[in-house]
Amino acid sequence: MVKPDGVRRSLVGLIITRIEQKGFVISNMRMFRMDDVFARIFYAEHDGRDFFPALLSFMTSGPVVALQVESPNAIALVRTTIGATRPEDRLPGTIRADFSTQLTENVVHASASPTDAERELALVFGDFHATLGTVHE
Ligand code: PPS
Repeated sequence: MVKPDGVRRSLVGLIITRIEQKGFVISNMRMFRMDDVFARIFYAEHDGRDFFPALLSFMTSGPVVALQVESPNAIALVRTTIGATRPEDRLPGTIRADFSTQLTENVVHASASPTDAERELALVFGDFHATLGTVHE
């Protein structure tokens, strides 16, 4: 997912190009703006963490571009491609290292596990999204 800072900085095309160049096949894509309810559900596992309010405020600050991508071992490979959460841990050549020096505004999100991916894909592309009337496209 390209986060609001990536969209604001016109990085969507560059990020999609990198994903495609790595060999991932894009099978679905959606641009939308999370509202507070959607963001709280999407990031529910982090509810109660000290950074949760900052994360919600950032993720609802503008539209995101969500991609469903396919490849063998996709979860691990996408996470390697995007780079670490913390700036000091980001390897050169990863999307986050190349486009962000910040912790919160870190340009991209990726699912952490197959179970996570299933849940997040259902939220973003499934009926649940359609029934959340307050999420603006
Ligand atoms: S942890 O401790 O491993 O569960 O956390 P981590 O995976 O590193 O981070 C979870 C998501 O929260 C975001 N995050 C933050 N947002 C705002 N402020 C601070 N300080 C902060 N720390 C972590 C981080 O970018 C992760 O979001 P996603 O979208 O999953 O990358």
